[in-house]
Amino acid sequence: MSGDRPTVTLKLATSLDGRIALANGQSQWITGEAARAEVHHLRANHDAVVVGSETVLADDPLLTARLDPPPAKQPLRVVADSRGRIPPGAKLFSTLEIGPVAIATLETTDLDARGWPSTRGLQFWMLPAGEGSSSISLTAMMESAQRAGVTSMMIEGGGQLAAAFMRASLVDRIEWFRAPVVLGGDGRPCLGDLGLETLNAAPKFDRTSVREIGPDLWESYVRR
Ligand SMILES: NC(=O)c1ccc[n+]([C@@H]2O[C@H](COP(=O)([O-])OP(=O)(O)OC[C@H]3O[C@@H](n4cnc5c(N)ncnc54)[C@H](OP(=O)(O)O)[C@@H]3O)[C@@H](O)[C@H]2O)c1
Repeated sequence: MSGDRPTVTLKLATSLDGRIALANGQSQWITGEAARAEVHHLRANHDAVVVGSETVLADDPLLTARLDPPPAKQPLRVVADSRGRIPPGAKLFSTLEIGPVAIATLETTDLDARGWPSTRGLQFWMLPAGEGSSSISLTAMMESAQRAGVTSMMIEGGGQLAAAFMRASLVDRIEWFRAPVVLGGDGRPCLGDLGLETLNAAPKFDRTSVREIGPDLWESYVRR
């Protein structure tokens, strides 16, 4: 990657036991209104927000920064969708006049067959697969983001994409909103498998603040 890569913030909105959804996928809303309002500020403070395809398929999110007054600039909304699975009817596509969208997909994806709009405000990043993976290379995605002028990005889940960023040592900061509810081991984890074999190898972070936000806790961490 040429020059400094974009900085990466991982945003987590979880139960006390680190779950982001029930086993059946239900996830809205785990954290309270005040925490959710803060997420809109965080979005406005990043050049891009990024989610995995499963999050769009499950939640059909807008991912805009909904503030009053609206921010001067909306973040670029990026979906990591290697196989082009998100539907043309996704809300992301019907809100391009509010903010831009980038679909990061494999270079083999047939865009014509997807039925996605080809409109101003929508860009496609055609990327190679990661080493030993059938999904897009995150390094290549970061390079595309950098070319698009992105200097900071916030990963908003889900657990599989968050784990991929963590495995690649690309997470610089964590903003963790934790609600006073437990969802249990059958809930979906905020981080997928990391494949660690020793505790020494575990990614480590230093806490920089803890705040109460309505009924929730907001913890901030930086990579050690
Ligand atoms: N509480 C919250 O704040 C919150 C936030 C977000 C999501 N959620 C919940 O989380 C669930 C979805 O999370 P999830 O973990 O199942 O899925 P996810 O992380 O949203 O998406 C996973 C998909 O991302 C794609 N992807 C593209 N590049 C990748 C890469 N390099 N590495 C890994 N994956 C890559 C993969 O599909 P392809 O290979 O096809 O690209 C993969 O299947 C939903 O239930 C949603 O409601 C909750």
